[in-house]
Amino acid sequence: MDTRPNSFFPDRPQFSGFMKPCRLEGEIQALEIHGDIPKDINGTFYRVMPDPQLPPFIEDDPWFNGDGNISAFEIKDGSVSFRQRYVRTEKFVREREAKRALIGKYRNKYTDAVEFKVRTTANTNVVFFNSQLLALKEDSPPYALDPISLETKGLYDFDGQLPSLTFTAHPKFDPVTGEMICFGYEAKGDGTPDVCYYNVTPDGKLTEVVWLVAPVVAMIHDFAVTDNWVLFPIIPQVCDIERLKQGGEHWQWSPETPFYIGVLPRRGAKPSDVKWFQYQNSFPGHTANAYEDESGNIHIDLGLSEKNVFFWWPDAKGNAPDPSSILSQLVRFTINPRSDDLNLSTPKILQKDNSEFYRIDDRFATHHYRHCFFDLMDPSLGTNFARIGPKLGGGYPLYNSLAHVDITTGSTDIYFPGKTHMVQEPVFIPRGGSTTEGDGYVLALVNNYDTMSSELHLVDTNDFSKAKAIILLPVRLRQGLHGNWVDARDLA
Ligand SMILES: [Fe+2]
Repeated sequence: MDTRPNSFFPDRPQFSGFMKPCRLEGEIQALEIHGDIPKDINGTFYRVMPDPQLPPFIEDDPWFNGDGNISAFEIKDGSVSFRQRYVRTEKFVREREAKRALIGKYRNKYTDAVEFKVRTTANTNVVFFNSQLLALKEDSPPYALDPISLETKGLYDFDGQLPSLTFTAHPKFDPVTGEMICFGYEAKGDGTPDVCYYNVTPDGKLTEVVWLVAPVVAMIHDFAVTDNWVLFPIIPQVCDIERLKQGGEHWQWSPETPFYIGVLPRRGAKPSDVKWFQYQNSFPGHTANAYEDESGNIHIDLGLSEKNVFFWWPDAKGNAPDPSSILSQLVRFTINPRSDDLNLSTPKILQKDNSEFYRIDDRFATHHYRHCFFDLMDPSLGTNFARIGPKLGGGYPLYNSLAHVDITTGSTDIYFPGKTHMVQEPVFIPRGGSTTEGDGYVLALVNNYDTMSSELHLVDTNDFSKAKAIILLPVRLRQGLHGNWVDARDLA
């Protein structure tokens, strides 16, 4: 592997147009606002984007191998302030010192220019739990950050309790018990089939540690939790340690591998209690929610595509779908966890359109729920693709609207931000004083390809037809992954 540094970003779609690395740290007070931000909104929207600090020496590095750069938007008294700061990972600090990229391919340590203890980019999600702001990527423990200054405190192992080498980027939060439910996969190192499930009590104690062995070494990106069960959907992107040693990709799409869902009792489980249900080869995306009904059946709602959504990691023959042909729909699998028949029935389609980044009113997580908010791609809404095409950059999924589906009625509301805009993942903010599910606001970062800068769009869930407020940034923030809303009372 040629590890000589590049002094500029490769001429590739994932480093061009809107995807040109942002590389900015700083703060801006009193962002411009069109419209009004209701005074009951008081808190901070945290999100993270992969944003390479320095040009990679890997020519075709995928977009989400960039360093985690955290944005925080504090909203108070109708005003918005912005702060952004990179996570000081071992990778970030050593590369800054060397003034060059030292890390090689995505999750392949055998391609690095130097040896690292922890090579994570901490670029996938940012969550707040037990007074800690945690920057997450599924290949390592979290990094803890100061929630106000965004300064990195360091790698966080829950005071030495963390049993696994890895920690999911999608922990779940039980709104009733206050627990954080977590797992790590490849939990004993690259290429290992071991999955470690664990639970963290509200005051930070690890409980319910269970070690499982997955039927295949493959990606477990998101998962789901109910009152009594945890579910592990496995994406048929498989890892082979020999391929890694030869300098290959961590992931390879496996058309022969079924879509497995591991189902484990949430409390008091033994490793032998896990059941690996399966469905035909397909790509499970993010989960919206899961819950149990009166008969004890589990409903798990998630994105599902027949095709390989991570098209930049093709199969062994190099086959990958055309990105524009990928359809991900919000579906519901119903599982009887006591059944010995491990074949899953065809899921019910909850929303037929191309969608992802499902979010809910988090107060209803793990329980029966009705409202789901998400990113939608509907070309018929009027996006001017001819105009924005040259500025899009590439390597990331495009969604041109925010949507809300009422799962009970099946009806969908759409917010279209404009003909030259794409949306990032939304978050839901409850209306002050309201306990009604889904009553509040949806907030999302929006890419404006006309101005080549970023905007926050705020939509009232009572009127999805227009934005209540549009908050302008004088800078462009690259496509990001995940984020969360933290109420000011929790931060305090
Ligand atoms: Fe994710």
